[in-house]
Amino acid sequence: MLPNGVSYADRFSGISGSAIREIFKVLARPGIVSFAGGNPSDDALPNELCAELASDVLLKDGKRILQYGATEGYPPFLESLQAYLNESYDFPAEKQNILPLTGSTQGVDLLCKAFLNPGDTVLTEDPTFLGNMQTLRVNQQKLVPVESDDDGLRIDALETAVKRHRPKALYCIPNFQNPTGRTLKADRRKAIAGMAGEYGFLVMEDDPYRDLRYEGQPQPSVKHFDESGHVVYMGSFSKLVSPGMRVGYMVAHEDIIRKCTIGKQGTDLHTPLLTQAIIDQFLRRKLLMPHLHSILGPYRGKLHAMLGELATFPEGTDYTKPEGGLFVFCALPEGINATKCFEEAVERGVAYVPGTYFYPEGGHHNTFRLNFSNSSLEQIHSGMGILRELFQPK
Ligand SMILES: Cc1ncc(COP(=O)(O)O)c(C=O)c1O
Repeated sequence: MLPNGVSYADRFSGISGSAIREIFKVLARPGIVSFAGGNPSDDALPNELCAELASDVLLKDGKRILQYGATEGYPPFLESLQAYLNESYDFPAEKQNILPLTGSTQGVDLLCKAFLNPGDTVLTEDPTFLGNMQTLRVNQQKLVPVESDDDGLRIDALETAVKRHRPKALYCIPNFQNPTGRTLKADRRKAIAGMAGEYGFLVMEDDPYRDLRYEGQPQPSVKHFDESGHVVYMGSFSKLVSPGMRVGYMVAHEDIIRKCTIGKQGTDLHTPLLTQAIIDQFLRRKLLMPHLHSILGPYRGKLHAMLGELATFPEGTDYTKPEGGLFVFCALPEGINATKCFEEAVERGVAYVPGTYFYPEGGHHNTFRLNFSNSSLEQIHSGMGILRELFQPK
């Protein structure tokens, strides 16, 4: 109950978050095997290295780091980030095209703040990432899901939706999508960038998983095909180094960056300088790639262990076979309800996220999402064994 006289803002009507909060509450139970989160493995968090880097930067530049800083970013980080983007990415990035973010999540919020009005339409994949679905909804966007298949968003369906709904933006996750793990085909990326220019809508290209590739060939970014300035690329160090540090970034047309910078002033003034400085050292000292190499092998092993277990699930179980990222998405034979089975799964000691929460229009109760990065191989084998039993047709 809210205090007397206090009421929710219109933008919060219909936002409860309660189902997911309940799921995440059970994860605190001792002994539970959780395939529910999207966390990196604890083993992948470089705490000792970060302690060393934090000490170095505070001793060298502590007075600046402990002061207020510029919204545009901690200058050394901006410099090393620009160099990293130009070395490792397939689109040009000048300083005026880059804005450090407090996690890439902030990028979607700032784009809504600066460019979208309540009631505007945003197209999404179907299913799509729950967290940003909530961010878009809090910003009073009308979400219209666009049919997706094993190669990601369907371009014919996208064109139909664009013509019918005249969206202000498309939100998509081209690499190892959350929740499905799917990767968008290169020709579709090109088509999306072209359509954004032709029809005049923003593309929010959310790409936190790009560097967690275990197999296959890297695909060009949507931003690579952006000739008109409509594509906003968002990257993150959350899944590569640490989500707790909250360091992400946006690369976009300089006028988009300028408006988002103004929006960010009122949100958090700037991303913490200490964590920008630590990531700067990762980039400057070329520590990112060796760190990534140390985590990719174990993650690949866990993905394969999970896929191996899924191969023994009841006949008719369908599941994605991602080339990277942190998730596998499963569809049980019709008639088995993963949403209803959730409580029973938790009672037996395993958690997942029912797939229905990732669909803007709900339904799809036979689906669920599994995370493999944050469990040990033993937990994957034991937890998947429990789910296999649970999902046997009765
Ligand atoms: C698709 C997607 N975008 C963004 C995020 C959050 O990234 P950040 O920690 O940089 O805000 C996640 C985290 O789960 C995600 O899956």
